[in-house]
Amino acid sequence: MRIRKAVFPAAGLGTRFLPATKAQPKEMLPLVDKPIIQYGVEEALASGCDQIIIVTGRGKQAIEDHFDVSYELERMLEDRKKTDLLAIVRHISDLIHVAYVRQKEAMGLGHAVLTARELVGEEPFAVLLADDVIDADPPCLEQMIRVFEETQCSVLATQIVEGEAISAYGVLDVKPADGRFQGRLYEIVNMVEKPRPEEAPSNLAIIGRYILTPAVFNTLSQIQAGAGGELQLTDGMRLLLKQEKMYAYVYEGRRHDTGDKLGFLKATVEFALKREDLGEPFRRYLRSLKL
Ligand code: UTP
Repeated sequence: MRIRKAVFPAAGLGTRFLPATKAQPKEMLPLVDKPIIQYGVEEALASGCDQIIIVTGRGKQAIEDHFDVSYELERMLEDRKKTDLLAIVRHISDLIHVAYVRQKEAMGLGHAVLTARELVGEEPFAVLLADDVIDADPPCLEQMIRVFEETQCSVLATQIVEGEAISAYGVLDVKPADGRFQGRLYEIVNMVEKPRPEEAPSNLAIIGRYILTPAVFNTLSQIQAGAGGELQLTDGMRLLLKQEKMYAYVYEGRRHDTGDKLGFLKATVEFALKREDLGEPFRRYLRSLKL
């Protein structure tokens, strides 16, 4: 089986970015000049997915508009001979067909994934949390798809997180998978959502990239709402683990947690420094601050 479909849960309320997210989705906040969600969509396409499914909710219209054709804007740019900008704008709507499904209430990440059930159907699929912007070559999802192609099992991307910070994540209990994929692959034994640091089974955190088999829809529909009345994806995956083998893959790359203010600022600085047009003047400016 090939991974063709990539699901982007984007129906969360984005409370950590209030008031910026009062009237606009956090997925549309730009890193330099590109909305966060576009980084994820480009990663999915570069990894071979050709169907993008975005789970939206109230107040998320801007996401749909972003991936649509904007005739007025294109006409205006054409008339003014702004060909560079026209190419950028067309690139977005040319990216691919995007399907949308609405999560009527923000009832948790597990519920958001379940909402995509009909659009995904009976095939393995990817889930990307746009907040996690991952700078990697090959893209993080492509690395995971290689693992899936060999194992035909669910694959979670994982990252080593040292110290107390681990308790902000879902954490994996694992055993090595015979040194496959240069020792980056583990077989998952269990997973715990946001454990206390002393209770964390390892320092391997689950991050926002998943490849899941369609059996997860059944397990998600069996579980009860957990912390905060939300349906937790981790609970659904823990039940899946009772039925199927699942793997964790320590991806190669640099992850930015842009759902967090400090993470967002760091990502902005790093992406700006890497830009051909901005890197040099921005570096000079930062140096001038004499911090
Ligand atoms: P977060 O935990 O980051 O929550 O969700 P949030 O609402 O987006 O942001 P904060 O914490 O209030 O600032 C993780 C991912 O799951 C999606 C979010 O859009 C985000 O991509 N999600 C979460 C949903 O799609 N639906 C939900 O009910 C909850």
